[in-house]
Amino acid sequence: LFISLEHAKFHSLGSGEIQTSINRKSRAVSEIIDLFYFLGTVPAIIVNVTLVAYTAVTIKIAIWRNKMRLDLNDATVKSAIALYDSLSNYDTVAAFNNESLETERFDETLKGVESHSNRLWRSFYLLNFLQRVTFSMQTASIIFFGTYGIYMENMKPGTFILYLTISKILALNLDKLGYMYCRYWSAIINAKMTYFISMKVKGKEMLPIAEFSDRIEFKDVNFYHGAKKIMSNMNFMIKQSEKVALVGKNGSGKSTLLKILLKYNNYVGFVTIDGEDKKYQFSEQLRRLISYVQQDALLFNYTVRYNIKYGNTDCLDYFMISLCKKMDIHDSIMKLRDGNNTVVYCSLQHKVREHGLS
Ligand SMILES: Nc1ncnc2c1ncn2[C@@H]1O[C@H](COP(=O)(O)OP(=O)(O)OP(=O)(O)O)[C@@H](O)[C@H]1O
Ligand SMILES: [Mg+2]
Repeated sequence: LFISLEHAKFHSLGSGEIQTSINRKSRAVSEIIDLFYFLGTVPAIIVNVTLVAYTAVTIKIAIWRNKMRLDLNDATVKSAIALYDSLSNYDTVAAFNNESLETERFDETLKGVESHSNRLWRSFYLLNFLQRVTFSMQTASIIFFGTYGIYMENMKPGTFILYLTISKILALNLDKLGYMYCRYWSAIINAKMTYFISMKVKGKEMLPIAEFSDRIEFKDVNFYHGAKKIMSNMNFMIKQSEKVALVGKNGSGKSTLLKILLKYNNYVGFVTIDGEDKKYQFSEQLRRLISYVQQDALLFNYTVRYNIKYGNTDCLDYFMISLCKKMDIHDSIMKLRDGNNTVVYCSLQHKVREHGLS
C-alpha cells in the first residue's frame, strides 16, 4: 500500500482511511489463508482459479468498454453538433418548413448515441453477469467442499456459515443491477420526451392559408424586445406584384419586420394577408407561401449537397447539378475534397462562402 502511495495522495487521504484499507487487505488475506487451511488443496485451487478468472474477465471487458465509451462520446458530440446547428440556424429551418427534417437528422444522431449507450450498458451487465457467475461457482464449490469438510469433521460449522454469508452478500448485489437498469431506461425516456415536447406545434383555432392574391397589410404594429421598443405604430400596405425595397439604418428594424411577417416574433397590432389576420394562420403554411433569405445564413455542419438542397429536399441530384452549373459554382464544388459529399466544417464555411455558395 505504502509503496504505491503518492505524496499528494497521502495528504488527500485521512489516516483512518489508510488504517481501514490496511485492515481490509489483511482481513482478506487472512480469510484466503483460512480457507486454504480449512478446506485443503482442492478448494485452494478453486479459489485461485476463480480469482484469476475474475481478474481476467474484469480487465478484458474493461478494455473493451473503454473503446465503446469513446464511440459513445463521439456519437454524443455529433448529436450535440446537429442540435446546435438546427438551433443556431433556426430562422432558416423555419423559413423552409424543415423542422421535421431537422428533427429527423437529430433523431438519426440520437440513434447513434442510443446504440452506443445500449452497447455500453449491455457490456456492463455482461461484465456483472460474468463476475457473478465466477463468484457463484466459487460459492457453489465452497458449499460442496464445506459440506464434505463438516461431514469428514475437518471443518467447523462456524467457518462454513461465514462463507455462506459471503455468498448471500453477492446475491444482494445482483438486486442493485436491476435498480440501475430501471434508472437507465427512465433517464433515456425522459430525455426523449423533453425534446419532442419542445418541438410540438400548437395549432388551435388556426385557419389554413394556401395562396396570396391581393395584399399584405401592417396596422398599428408595435414590437418590443424585452422592455426596448423596436417598432412603434407601423402602418403600410403592399399590393400583390409590387416591388418594395425597405431601406433603413442598421438596427432600425428591417429584419424584425420580416420576422414578424413570418411569425417568428410576437407583436401587438394587426398583420393581415389578403385581409386575414396572420396570427390565426398556420406558421408552416405561411412560411411555405413566403420565401425568406436571411441576412446571415450559416451553413449546416453536413454535406454540401444537404446545404444546397435545403430549400427543396426532394430535388434530384441532376437538377441540383444543372442549377449549380447555371450559377457557375459547380466547378468550385468539384474542387472540394469530396465534391457534393464534402462535409461543411467551420473552416470550410468561409471557403464555401467565397465561392458564392451561401
Ligand atoms: N434577439 C434580440 N434581442 C434584443 N434585441 C434585439 C434582438 N434582435 C434584434 N434586436 C434589436 O432590435 C433592433 C432591430 O434589429 P433588426 O435586426 O431588425 O435591425 P435591421 O434593420 O435588420 O439591422 P441591419 O441593417 O443591421 O440588418 C435593433 O436595435 C437590435 O438591437
Ligand atoms: Mg437586418
